[in-house]
Amino acid sequence: MDRRRVAICGSRGLGSYLAQAILATGEWDLVILSRTPQPDLTENGIRVKAVDYTSVDSLYRALRKVHTVISVIPDAEAQLNIIDACLMARVRRFVPAEFETSPEHRPLYGGPSDKMTVLVRLNEVSAQLESTVFSCGLFMEYFAPGGWSACGSYSWNDGTFLLDLRHKKATFPVDSSESLSTVVCLTSVVDVANFVAAALSLRSWPPEMKMFGDRLRLSDLLEVAQYVRAREFRVKLITEEEIEYNILRTADWRAQRELQTMRSIISHEYDIGQRDLNARFPEIQATAFEGFLRRCWA
Ligand SMILES: NC(=O)c1ccc[n+]([C@@H]2O[C@H](COP(=O)([O-])OP(=O)(O)OC[C@H]3O[C@@H](n4cnc5c(N)ncnc54)[C@H](OP(=O)(O)O)[C@@H]3O)[C@@H](O)[C@H]2O)c1
Repeated sequence: MDRRRVAICGSRGLGSYLAQAILATGEWDLVILSRTPQPDLTENGIRVKAVDYTSVDSLYRALRKVHTVISVIPDAEAQLNIIDACLMARVRRFVPAEFETSPEHRPLYGGPSDKMTVLVRLNEVSAQLESTVFSCGLFMEYFAPGGWSACGSYSWNDGTFLLDLRHKKATFPVDSSESLSTVVCLTSVVDVANFVAAALSLRSWPPEMKMFGDRLRLSDLLEVAQYVRAREFRVKLITEEEIEYNILRTADWRAQRELQTMRSIISHEYDIGQRDLNARFPEIQATAFEGFLRRCWA
């Protein structure tokens, strides 16, 4: 029997981890959609189609015969065009570029470039296109040497957010209580990719699937980092008011994203609560934060 085809929109960052995990299942025929040809991937036997995300027709041609589309593209306009192309090509399933906080914990921001625009559209077309949101909290790779951007992403994160393990410093957002009791969930990207690859085999998808490797207070993050680095960290606290003030003042997009993520943390958006995917796939042993840091910083 022919294997069903899955397309990943976006070749680097999370897209490359997903590709590896999906290929490892041996159950899917994989194609990667990219803005440019990717000779290094093609040379390794991975099928790549170069597409124009502003053209639904270009996307339609790339998505014919595809069963499931996974997007890691941080651009709502591109994702809306992919959804239109999925409908034209009769794609069965779509995963939007979420992989972070749970939509149920997020405020309803407006604006066309927002992730919520994509979720609203998916809700409208749910009778034709099944979809699910994967929620996983913070990527543990934020705390690896060089951070998530050193893992091939275009991310703002350079490994100094919250914890700067190289320089043994920490900066934590706090609300008016000034306590470090805010909880965050964390998952290694390798585990995210393995859970997503496993979930492809499920017969039906709920609107959201949650996973995490650890669920810790900010004070626990600090304790684990100090333990792993065997040194006390210099700690700076940044208040809600300072975060709001600095968001308005800074023009630097990296600083903006860092501050917005801090704001989401103290709004408890990174506490996704439960982990149904871990329970469903117990054979995937999600990495705990201490083990992750030990591996990176040994
Ligand atoms: N939980 C967390 O802590 C966390 C952290 C970071 C990201 N995330 C989530 O993970 C997902 C992927 O993030 P990422 O850091 O891997 O993304 P990324 O590196 O910014 O982009 C992934 C891929 O998307 C394509 N792309 C980038 N910008 C694009 C644009 N404007 N238009 C069209 N294509 C574009 C690129 O592929 P090509 O060059 O091949 O076209 C790129 O390799 C997102 O959903 C993000 O929200 C979560």
